Amino acid sequence: MFKFVVQKLLEMGVKPEQIYLSMNRRMSCGIGKCGRCNIGPFYLCKDGPDMNYAKIMGYPDVF
Ligand code: FES
Repeated sequence: MFKFVVQKLLEMGVKPEQIYLSMNRRMSCGIGKCGRCNIGPFYLCKDGPDMNYAKIMGYPDVF
C-alpha cells in the first residue's frame, strides 16, 4: 500500500521530504538487537518508526 500511495503523492507533486511513512509493522525486538527493522543504515526502532521518505527512498527494502 505504501508503494502505491507514495507513487501517487509523487505524481501529484508532493516532495519526498514532505512524505512520512509509519514503519512500526516491521519491528520485532524494538531495542536495536534483532536487525529485523533495518532499512539501509537505519534501524526503525531507534531512528523511527516514522521515517521521512527522502531519507529512505534509495534503499531497495523500503516497501
Ligand atoms: S526491532 Fe529489532 S533491531 Fe529494530
